[in-house]
Amino acid sequence: MSSDLTEQTITGVVQQTFDTSTDDRFRQLFVSLVQHLHDFAREVRLTGDEWFTAMDFIERLGKISSPTRQEVVLLSDILGLSMLLDTMHESPGGSVTASALLGPFYVEGRPTADNGADISNGVAGTPMFVTGRVVDERGNPIAGAHVDTWHSDGVGFYDVQLTEQLHGEFAMRALLTTDDDGWFWYRSIAPRYYPVPTDGPCGEILGAANRSVMRPQHVHFWFRADGYHGLITQLFLKDDSYIGRDAVFADRTSLQADFVHHEPGPAPDGTTVDEPFVTLDWTFTLAASTDQ
Ligand code: BEZ
Ligand code: FE
Repeated sequence: MSSDLTEQTITGVVQQTFDTSTDDRFRQLFVSLVQHLHDFAREVRLTGDEWFTAMDFIERLGKISSPTRQEVVLLSDILGLSMLLDTMHESPGGSVTASALLGPFYVEGRPTADNGADISNGVAGTPMFVTGRVVDERGNPIAGAHVDTWHSDGVGFYDVQLTEQLHGEFAMRALLTTDDDGWFWYRSIAPRYYPVPTDGPCGEILGAANRSVMRPQHVHFWFRADGYHGLITQLFLKDDSYIGRDAVFADRTSLQADFVHHEPGPAPDGTTVDEPFVTLDWTFTLAASTDQ
């Protein structure tokens, strides 16, 4: 049968080899993947040399990847696939806060912190006071929600990129818990825009496309609460010069926030700050899970 394959008939022949699977979803995914891959190759008249270049690229994605260097995730991010999945799977309409990709700098084992704590761990920068409220779609507070937060320093580096300076300690990240009225608050330092890693295979794509490699200034959040869908999101500096051209397409309009600048004086935590500082206030709305 294979001997008289043609450019058109090979697709069906390959797809049939998945008929013996007992896993319906597996079969659906691979039959469709084969269809789209073959259609792509036919449409662009993919050459053997081009496919070898692509396979070498995939091999190099794997070789440069490590627990702290997630090049495959970065590929998904810069091709917009991560944000496509985020938008596909979020609750439609309503007041639920939009999601935005996790990114490579979330780290397991981060420290827990009490509300009001300074989570900068001594990293120098402009003081930033973050105050957030977590509510349901009716505006009722969600008490006891777990709030992971992490962000870069004022130069654009995360703690995991500053291991020598920080002797491997965490900084600018913590796990907080909302109080009885759904509030959480902490002190840190203001982050800054930064480039996605460009010294690997993904950098070659961004370079060849002459694309911006920058991410506008942002703070990451991951909310988890019993009875609600988890929410992974980010808040972006509204007037950042890179807004609207985030290298990974996460800077959604509804997530653009004012990082308000203040002269030295009283801060939201009741202390007096003797240098200019920034405040960021936001209400995050979680969707109830259907099994509630
Ligand atoms: C981040 O926001 O941490 C990030 C997301 C995607 C690629 C690089 C960094
Ligand atoms: Fe980030």
